[in-house]
This record gives sequence, C-alpha cells and structure tokens, in this order.
Amino acid sequence: MTQDPFTRDPSAGEPSARDPFDWIEHEARRRRDAGLVRTLRPRTAGTGPLDLAGNDYLGLSRHPAVMEAAAGAARRWGAGATGSRLVTGSTALHAELERELAAFCGFESALVLSSGYAANLAAVTALAPRETLLVSDAANHASIVDGCRLARGRTEVVPHRDPGAVRAALAGHGAGRALVVSDAVFSVDGDAAPLSELAGVCRAHGAALLVDDAHGLGVLGAGGRGALHAAGLAGAPDVVATVTLSKALGSQGGAVLGPARVIDHLVNTARSFVFDTGLAPAATGAALAALRLLRERPGLAERVRTAALALYGGLTERGYAACRPDAAVVSVRAPSPTAAVEWAARCRAEGLAVGCFRPPSVPDGVSRLRLTARADLTERQIARAVATVDATAPGGARGTAAAAGAVSARTAVVPG
Ligand SMILES: Cc1ncc(COP(=O)(O)O)c(C=O)c1O
Repeated sequence: MTQDPFTRDPSAGEPSARDPFDWIEHEARRRRDAGLVRTLRPRTAGTGPLDLAGNDYLGLSRHPAVMEAAAGAARRWGAGATGSRLVTGSTALHAELERELAAFCGFESALVLSSGYAANLAAVTALAPRETLLVSDAANHASIVDGCRLARGRTEVVPHRDPGAVRAALAGHGAGRALVVSDAVFSVDGDAAPLSELAGVCRAHGAALLVDDAHGLGVLGAGGRGALHAAGLAGAPDVVATVTLSKALGSQGGAVLGPARVIDHLVNTARSFVFDTGLAPAATGAALAALRLLRERPGLAERVRTAALALYGGLTERGYAACRPDAAVVSVRAPSPTAAVEWAARCRAEGLAVGCFRPPSVPDGVSRLRLTARADLTERQIARAVATVDATAPGGARGTAAAAGAVSARTAVVPG
C-alpha cells in the first residue's frame, strides 16, 4: 500500500516530510466558509441563456464579418503569433490595427498587446520608474493594481473618484515626476471617473494622466471613440490610454494609445510587451474588423448606453440598490457573498446569465450582481431580465435610495 508521504511515521526511519501546500487547504477552507469559492463554468457554444454576464457590449464577437476576419487571419498568418512582437510576432495586421485604432480614438500612436491586462502592466510600469509617484484610484482594475505593485515608483492609493485627494497627493510630492492612473469607467459599479477634473489637477502639477478606457471604447464618446475622446483629452501630449479588444470589439487583446514618443518608450522598455508573445493573428484580424464595423455604425454605442439605463431604471423602480450606469455595466447590491452566488445561480436556472462580484474583486467588500448591457438587447429581453432578477432575489436584496448611493461609496481600500 502506498503511504501518504506527508503522514509517514518518522519512527519508521524515513525523514518526516512537511506538506508544503497545507496552507492551500487552510485558504480553501476559509474561502468556503466565507462563500467566496470561484468555479469555472463552460458556456454553451450555441444558444444558451440570455447573456448579461459577458462583455460583448456591441454583440460583435459573433458578427459574421468579425468571425470571418478571425478565420481569414489565421489562414493567412497562422494560428499563433509565433513570437514576441519584437521578433516574429508583428504582422501587417497588427500595424493596421494600431494605425486605425489610434486614428479612431484620436491618439497619435498605438501599441497592441496580448491583453488589456498586459497593456495596463506595460503602461503603468514603463511610465512609473524609480522616483515616480503613482497616484491610483482605490477602485481601479486589478491589472492597474498589479501594475502599481510591479512598478519601481511609489504608489499612493487615493479614495475613489476624488480629484481633491489626487491634488493633495501630487502637492505632497512637490516637483517630482508623477503619474495619475484611473479607470475611465469602473468595473464594479459602472461609474465614470471625473476625467476633466483629473486632467486639470495633473496639469497643475506637471503629472501625466493614464486612463484605462476598457469599458469606454465602443460605448462612450462620439460613435464609441471612448471616454477620453468624450472629455476632449484624446491626443493630448500628457495623456495616455489603455483599452481592451475583448469587450466592445468582441475579440481579445489590448492596446496602449498615446503620443508616439510614449509608445516608442513602451516598445523599448515595457516588459509585458517585450517578453510576451504577440497577439494572435485571428484576434488581431477580428478586432480590426470589429473596429471597422464600429466606425461604420456610430449608433451602436448609444444603443448600449440606452439598454444599460433601461436595465437600471427597471431595477431601481423595483427597489434594488444600483449605481446609475455611466456606460454598459449595471451593478445591483446583494446582501452577502453567498446570497449573490445563489441569486446568480437562480437567474441562470431561469435562463439569464449575470455576473457576480464578491470580495476581493469589490473594493468596499459589498457583493453585487453585475449585469452588462449590449447594443443588441431588445426591449423584451430587458424586461425579461429585470423580471428574472426580481423574481429570484434573496430576502433583503431590495435596498433604499440611500443604499443605492452607498453602492458607489468613496472608499480607500485597495482591491486585492
Ligand atoms: C477596467 C479593465 N481594465 C482591464 C481589463 C483587462 O482586460 P483584458 O481582459 O483584455 O485582459 C479589464 C477586464 O475585465 C477591465 O475591466
């Protein structure tokens, strides 16, 4: 009989071994007790539940032209990029996408990376070397948080959406180099950053502004040109943006947009660009096709925003605590992590897929159901989604108007 190597009797002459992963068991138990276990659930390939959980804001991931572009790019360039962008991983498609994305969003230059996560790591780390003060909103996306952790500069986390706190942090740093970083639209509550105020504060202190427009591209600004375009900040010499190609553009990948000298600097120094395989041709071709569709159909962006507001209106009318959406994301507060998981499961059983946000993904520890609007949602689907969320709600899920305000409460907790 084989013996468990970690429980072997030391008197049998064998050296006693300590289980190097016993701490994992403890962590797993703690997660189970707190209702915070995460599981993988493969989605169906064909028609499944009504999808308000994904990020396919414009419904382009299954658009025939986008899928054909992905297939065509794979046939022409191969399934993989074959190497990092600096070696063999750059194709004419990458260059075309960079040119067209920069032009569409109003920036001088763009750099495509393998994900939005890698784009944020690249921009934050490359733009905040030693001696730099990084000022980061408390509700920023985990990829920005991780970028701050990797950067050589010093990070100061400021309360959510608080230009006054940013000003104080910059003033305390004096004339030193500084980078202020914020999501344009925050993932958890779908609320927007005060970009004009942040830009004003940055300019007053000679700081650069880096904005993650993952949720703004395709949804905000004229024809979906993004939050920075809407704020009149696209193309400014002191402003840099990151975007993902995996939400409104229905593909995969990410990009950094900004002045050409900043992009050149990233090409030379950003480790998540230099040491990462380039974006696969299929994803690059799909994103390019989706971008062209978006350019041809400027009404798509407004349709997502209208659908989000309709979801929000239906839910708040029924007494649920939700933050008024500034883009596509509508979050509804749940009484506890366990209640949020059960609520989402009941929705799914009724044919509605919704997201579920729990700690550590929420900066204030409050769990939420997360519904993402899409441009192709019909009024009937929206009404059905609202009715399903309502019919499956756990006790105590209905909040008051005051609770709705609390959903976007300013907080200074760093997401884990
Ligand atoms: C605000 C924000 N930034 C960055 C990312 C990461 O993008 P990607 O999924 O392309 O890595 C996400 C994805 O969820 C996001 O919501």
